Amino acid sequence: MAERLTTIRRAVPSDAAALAELGARTFRDAFEADNTPENMALYLASSYGLDLQSAELRNAGIVTLLAESENRLAGYSQLREGPAPDCIGGARPIELWRFYVERAWQGRGVAQMLMAATIEAAAALGGGTLWLCVWERNHRAQAFYRKSGFEDRGEKPFILGTDRQTDRVMALALSQRDAAP
Ligand SMILES: CC(C)(COP(=O)(O)OP(=O)(O)OC[C@H]1O[C@@H](n2cnc3c(N)ncnc32)[C@H](O)[C@@H]1OP(=O)(O)O)[C@@H](O)C(=O)NCCC(=O)NCCS
Repeated sequence: MAERLTTIRRAVPSDAAALAELGARTFRDAFEADNTPENMALYLASSYGLDLQSAELRNAGIVTLLAESENRLAGYSQLREGPAPDCIGGARPIELWRFYVERAWQGRGVAQMLMAATIEAAAALGGGTLWLCVWERNHRAQAFYRKSGFEDRGEKPFILGTDRQTDRVMALALSQRDAAP
């Protein structure tokens, strides 16, 4: 059903305010039950806001895709070029930095459509390996990433406010040459 209702497009600078709102809201929805209000507030303030998302949308090393369902934002993903952790081998790594679907659209196929477009965009950037970090306690996201072809490669610390947490690092080979041994 989501296929008929959902379109995926590249975000443009004028999407910054909507992206900031969506980013903060989906992060809060996903993680506020398992973290203190103080740590959530610190992280949200440092990660989402008009200026921050405006800068991201103007950064040539970041690709942002928006999923729109029934003409409203239903999710987004962001790819980022840059260094990868040691557990990610292979040339030309691209990070799947953020991947969030609105609660109302979870389990309805939007995530699959967004992931397909995200993988295509990463390959178009010339990426060899697509890698990501996901909280070790975020079992739903890990299940979704495994279903999408990602494999666990290791772990990496993540600081939420003042709380040191552990992320799993997962990766997907975009070209056979960079496939895991
Ligand atoms: C992660 C996310 C994009 C996945 O999209 P989705 O539409 O929920 O994905 P799906 O429903 O297709 O797949 C999720 C899988 O997890 C399973 N699942 C659901 N709840 C689960 C749980 N509590 N523990 C483990 N697996 C769970 C589902 O059964 C499904 O697998 P299946 O299709 O084999 O049954 C979406 O849930 C989301 O945006 N979550 C909040 C933000 C987030 O965590 N983003 C990732 C940050 S790294």
